[in-house]
Amino acid sequence: MYNKEMINAIFAHHLYDYCVVDRAFNIVSYSEHAEAYFDPACFEKEEINLLEAVPEFVGLEDTLQALFQNQSNALHIPTVFKVPDQYITIRVEQSRDSQVLIVLFENITDATMARQSVLQANNENLLLLKEIEEKNRQLEAYNHEMEKLVTAEVAKNLDKQHMLELQTRHAQMGEMIAMITHQWKQPLSVIQTLGTLLKIKYASGKLSETVFTEKIDNLLSQATYLNQTVNDFQKFFTPSKKKVHFDMKETMMSVLSLIEMEYALQNIEIDLCEEDVVRVYGYENEYKQVILSILQNAKDALLLQTGQAREIKIRIRKKENHSLVMIEDNAGGIPEEIMEHIFTQYVSTKKEGSGLGLHIAKSVIENNMQGKLWVQNTKEGACFFIEV
Ligand SMILES: Nc1ncnc2c1ncn2[C@@H]1O[C@H](COP(=O)(O)OP(=O)(O)OP(=O)(O)O)[C@@H](O)[C@H]1O
Ligand SMILES: [Mg+2]
Repeated sequence: MYNKEMINAIFAHHLYDYCVVDRAFNIVSYSEHAEAYFDPACFEKEEINLLEAVPEFVGLEDTLQALFQNQSNALHIPTVFKVPDQYITIRVEQSRDSQVLIVLFENITDATMARQSVLQANNENLLLLKEIEEKNRQLEAYNHEMEKLVTAEVAKNLDKQHMLELQTRHAQMGEMIAMITHQWKQPLSVIQTLGTLLKIKYASGKLSETVFTEKIDNLLSQATYLNQTVNDFQKFFTPSKKKVHFDMKETMMSVLSLIEMEYALQNIEIDLCEEDVVRVYGYENEYKQVILSILQNAKDALLLQTGQAREIKIRIRKKENHSLVMIEDNAGGIPEEIMEHIFTQYVSTKKEGSGLGLHIAKSVIENNMQGKLWVQNTKEGACFFIEV
């Protein structure tokens, strides 16, 4: 027989609640709070049956029976959820005389909750990690897409820039042929005259050796000059491969030597004034082409003017550690309405103009040489400023 008092005494200070069950699975005694774990319906009958009070034991009758017969040591149901929100663990122990079983209930709600919240947190962390991974993946894909787009755009722009440069080069080739024509006219006519003279003298038998040598030398020097101009032009239009130090005045003079004949024929006077000796580090040929573009625009504008002296003034100045070149004409200035867009491609007021000259010039000075190119109207005309 079991001793209720004794069991009560044993568990009085324990965390467990308990009930004592006889061989018919009736609950013969239970601790004060054990009721909380029983199905309320079980109290309707006179005797409280374990299987009704704790339905978790349904199906475990054989195991309980085995416990009575000492065939098994203990029964443990690790986690049982009790409505509304309790977790308990149940253990069944034999009494020493095998007359009763003692069912122990331990409330593990706090521990379970804690574990669950850890699990949940872990899960949430996992989800978060997954989400971050996914976001990273999306970002990477997006970046990749962007990179592709940017590369494509850059390539397109490069193509466009390349096309623009080609167009300008073609336009400049045209100009070059025009300039060569001017430069060549005079020496060619000298050569023609000398040739004719020699022929006549020879035919009339009056050609002395001194005259012959003198005329031939002159003729050869004219030919050398022609050769020289072609070389100059060719050099001029070959893109610079690397940056070099160049003297600004010398560079200007070499540009002017190419165009002087043509400008002189149009009655355009070019005045070069070196206020400071300036040396520059950059792409010399490209710089020369910028100067040429500006000079040609000035010439075009001057040719529209009649009845006044046509003048272009070039000034070379040092500004801190920069070079500043100012090219000013007296052709009346840039029309107000295009002033703001003058460096935009395809902006032109000329019938045959491509509107690329200044656009390319600005790109060369500001992108390739990290300088600045801008323009202002003056009292008499336009003044271009090139700072490198
Ligand atoms: N010195 C100047 N005086 C007056 N107008 C000017 C002067 N320089 C440029 N312009 C104006 O700026 C416009 C743009 O010049 P830009 O050199 O870019 O193109 P363009 O000369 O018309 O054509 P191209 O591509 O053949 O050079 C010109 O059409 C002209 O109207
Ligand atoms: Mg132009």
